[in-house]
Amino acid sequence: MRTQVGIVGAGPAGLMLSHLLHRHGISSVVLESRSREYVEHRVRAGVLEQGSVDLLRDTGLGARLDREGLRHEGIELRFDGESHRVAMTELTGRAITVYGQQEVVKDLIAARLAAGGTILFSAEATRLSGLESPSPVVHYRHEGRDEELHCDFVVGCDGFHGVSRSAVPDGVLHTYERTYPFAWLGVLAAAAPAVEELIYAHHERGFALYSMRSPEISRLYLQVPADEDIADWPDERIWAELRTRLETVPGWTLNEGPILEKAITPLRSFVVEPMQWQRLYLAGDAVHIVPPTGAKGMNLALADVALLGDAFAAWYADGRTDLLDDYSRTALRRVWRAQQFSWWMTSMLHRLDADDPYEAKLQSATLRYLTTSPAYATSLAENYVGLPLV
Ligand code: FAD
Ligand code: PHB
Repeated sequence: MRTQVGIVGAGPAGLMLSHLLHRHGISSVVLESRSREYVEHRVRAGVLEQGSVDLLRDTGLGARLDREGLRHEGIELRFDGESHRVAMTELTGRAITVYGQQEVVKDLIAARLAAGGTILFSAEATRLSGLESPSPVVHYRHEGRDEELHCDFVVGCDGFHGVSRSAVPDGVLHTYERTYPFAWLGVLAAAAPAVEELIYAHHERGFALYSMRSPEISRLYLQVPADEDIADWPDERIWAELRTRLETVPGWTLNEGPILEKAITPLRSFVVEPMQWQRLYLAGDAVHIVPPTGAKGMNLALADVALLGDAFAAWYADGRTDLLDDYSRTALRRVWRAQQFSWWMTSMLHRLDADDPYEAKLQSATLRYLTTSPAYATSLAENYVGLPLV
C-alpha cells in the first residue's frame, strides 16, 4: 500500500492528524493495533482545553461536542476541611469542556470514514524502515499477513508503548523522566455527579479527584501506592475511601452508584527530544507523558498534530520545509510548559513522603496562597484552560 503520510496509532493524535491532512488534500493511512470497538470504549481523559475545543469545532467536529460536552468555568480545591473555587473563566476569559476522550475518538473515526479515509484496525506496526530515504516503509501485520505501507513521511502516534520511537538509532534521542511512588485508581460510576465542577482534593490519606462524563456518570480517582493491586479494591472499599477524602466539607455528600469500570494507572513524567528524526515525526504520548493531575495529555497530543498538519500542508503545497524543520522545537516549548504545570499540580495535591512534615507544610502554604492571591490563582487557571497554541 502507498500513501503520502503513514500514521501509526488511532488515538486522538493519529486520528486528528489524519483528519487535518485530509482537509489539506493530503492522503494518509492510519494503522491501529487494536480493534475499533476497543479504541472507541477505552476510558481515559476527559478535559478539553479551550484550544482543543476550538480545533475540533473549526475542523467540523463540534456538533456532538457542543450538544453533549459540559462547559466548566471553574474548579474546586478542597483541603484542610475547606473548599475554594478557582474561577477560571473570570480570571482568564476561557473555559474547559468535559467530554470523554473516547467520544473525541468516536467523532474522529466517524469523520474519517465518512470522508473515505483509511484506518486499518487490528493492524500492528512491527517496525519502520527507510526513514533516511524519501520513501520510508511501515511494516505491519494484518489478518495474519505481513504487509508494507510505503509513504513520504511516517508519524508515530502510537503512545508510550508503541514501536515508532524505537526506530530512532541509539544515541539520537534524549530522555527526561520522573516516576512517582503513587498511581491513580480511576472508576467510572453510574451516579449523578454531586457537583457541577471538578473537585481536586488534598487529604492526609492522599489525593482524590471528582470528575464526571455526563449528568448521569461520575468519574472519580484516588491516589494509591504505585504497586497497588486492583483486586484489593472491592467497590465498597473504593467508596469508603472516596467518602473519607472528599466528604470533608460540612453538609457535602458523595452520590454513589454501581461501578462500571475500574483500573489503576501509574503516574509518570516523560519527554523524549527531539520529536523528529529524518522522515519520522513523533506526536502525543509516543514522545511525552504527563501525570494526569493537570489534565494535559490529550490536549498536548492534539496540539502536536495541529502543528504537524500545518507543516505538512506547507510542504506539500509549496515545498516549504521550515515548519517541518521547526516542529520539534516549537512543540517542545508547549510540552515543557505542560510538564512543569503537571508536575507542580501533582506535587501540590498528592500525599508525598509521609515522614517529611516540612513537605506537608509547604503544600498547605501553596494551597492557601492559591486561595488568597488572584495572581497565583490566575497562573493555575491560565495553564489549566490552556495557553495559546504556540
Ligand atoms: P494514545 O491515545 O495512547 O493512542 C495510541 C494508539 O496507538 C493506541 O490506540 C494504541 O493501541 C496504538 N498503538 C500502539 N502501538 C501500536 C502499534 N505498534 N501499531 C499500531 N498501533 C499501535 N489527558 C488529558 O488531556 N486530560 C485528562 O483528563 C486525562 N486523564 C487521563 C486519565 C487516565 C486514567 C489516563 C490513562 C490518561 C489520561 N490522560 C488525560 C492522558 C491521555 O489519555 C493521553 O495523553 C492521550 O491518550 C494521548 O493520545 P495519543 O493519541 O498520543 O496516544
Ligand atoms: C477526567 O475526567 O478523567 C479527568 C479530569 C481531570 C484530570 C484528570 C482526569 O486532571
